[in-house]
Amino acid sequence: MTEHEAPRVTVLGLGRMGTAIAGAYLAAGYRTTVWNRTAARGDALAAQGAVRAADVAEAVAAGPLLVVPLLDPATVRRTLEPAAPLLAGRTLVSLANGTLEQARDLAAWAAGHGAHHLAGAMMALPHTIGAPEAFFFFSGSESAFEEHRTALEVMATGHYLGADPAAAETHSLAVLGTGYAALTGFLHAAALLETYGTGPERFAPLAAAWLRDMAAFLPHLAKEAASGSYADAASTIDLNRPAVDTLIAASTERGVDPRVHHPLKALLDRRSADGYGDDSFSSLYELLKPARPRP
Ligand SMILES: NC(=O)c1ccc[n+]([C@@H]2O[C@H](COP(=O)([O-])OP(=O)(O)OC[C@H]3O[C@@H](n4cnc5c(N)ncnc54)[C@H](OP(=O)(O)O)[C@@H]3O)[C@@H](O)[C@H]2O)c1
Repeated sequence: MTEHEAPRVTVLGLGRMGTAIAGAYLAAGYRTTVWNRTAARGDALAAQGAVRAADVAEAVAAGPLLVVPLLDPATVRRTLEPAAPLLAGRTLVSLANGTLEQARDLAAWAAGHGAHHLAGAMMALPHTIGAPEAFFFFSGSESAFEEHRTALEVMATGHYLGADPAAAETHSLAVLGTGYAALTGFLHAAALLETYGTGPERFAPLAAAWLRDMAAFLPHLAKEAASGSYADAASTIDLNRPAVDTLIAASTERGVDPRVHHPLKALLDRRSADGYGDDSFSSLYELLKPARPRP
């Protein structure tokens, strides 16, 4: 592929993620234009063949696809503001975590300047960019996602989640939330086991083995939650209720703060008191989902 024929991409923002992303495009043979507020962060990429833009306008004008991994959506907008008239007809992919309101504001601003906008949320680390385990969530313009899918998947597997620009961020938070609960549970358990002389490093592989099993259980849990059918339970509310009670009691006895498990205890107690003790653990979903699902 000659340089003239190579597909073009601009990466605006060369922090940890942007540097990895620009590197992935260079490795994939893209003519990669880069810009960063602190220009020196582009030195290594320039040495690898990236084209350095003198300013944001030159970076935007360099091609049809702008990938922008900056701090947050407000920074994306502030950075692009001077080049806003050049955005018309180009695809702007903002890869910046922020509030849902910021995501929607940025999308409206980009659309106001005639850009096709995709909000992205990166489920990846700098070193996993381009690796099979990396995945990104996208929402916004579906036609932009389809048109640029090959280029987007140089960074990570892409999942398109609908037109609402906040959907990518919300899905990212949902995945993080799943992890937060598991990681907090791990840290609490590690503190408890420390009192038995089992250090966190010895416990970690045991917890990891269990989490792998739990991950394999998710589709089953999801099927029950989606169908609202909890009768054929592998693990019931009333089976888990005493287990959580004992975990809390064991923690209290050993001087370890058990409060991380209080919300789960409250849900299990309520479900049991409502007469659903024989239902599957997954029936907690009935207490968590909105009374009337939004359309
Ligand atoms: N790192 C991760 O593991 C990871 C994983 C998933 C998602 N993310 C998300 O990816 C985005 C980028 O993260 P990162 O880790 O690459 O961040 P980072 O290494 O801190 O880089 C931040 C980038 O934003 C630029 N920036 C910050 N403030 C600016 C301003 N006021 N004006 C212009 N440019 C500004 C920085 O430019 P300078 O170089 O000039 O400071 C740099 O290019 C964030 O939304 C983050 O939440 C990160």
